[in-house]
Amino acid sequence: MTRSKRELYDQLAAQLSNLLAGERDLIANAANFAALVFHWLPDLNWAGFYFVKDDELLLGPFQGKPACMRIKLGQGVCGTAATKCATTIVPNVHEFPGHITCDSDSNSEIVVPLMKDLRLLGVLDLDSPSLSRFDQEDAAGLETLVRILLSSVTS
Ligand code: SME
Repeated sequence: MTRSKRELYDQLAAQLSNLLAGERDLIANAANFAALVFHWLPDLNWAGFYFVKDDELLLGPFQGKPACMRIKLGQGVCGTAATKCATTIVPNVHEFPGHITCDSDSNSEIVVPLMKDLRLLGVLDLDSPSLSRFDQEDAAGLETLVRILLSSVTS
């Protein structure tokens, strides 16, 4: 990881831990997570969550333009990452079969599954107007932030 990017994620991890301390509600903590990430990570046009409900992904707290509310498991980048339970980086969303366009500004995307006690709770989804915005350094940094979120909540 380059030093500057690692430092940014280290700072975000410390900020997130402070922000979520004392609150154990998933929606409240996910909402502040989305706001923190959207405003501190550069070059994003959308950051937020989808949560598993009735075998679909249902829109959760986010920052950015209004987005599609339900995504079927296995569909789009979010549904694919959820089904595989694996962080998914898409350098060019226009080349991803089945990509779901919520904001026409989006050109690249990263989706991190939320796994708690081997159970899939949902996904974190970040979009960028830049091609190839996300790399393995972002994946590692965001997975750390997701661990902080999941260890802060009771569900
Ligand atoms: N592009 C996503 C849909 C969600 S929006 O980007 C917020 C997908 O293909 O799953």
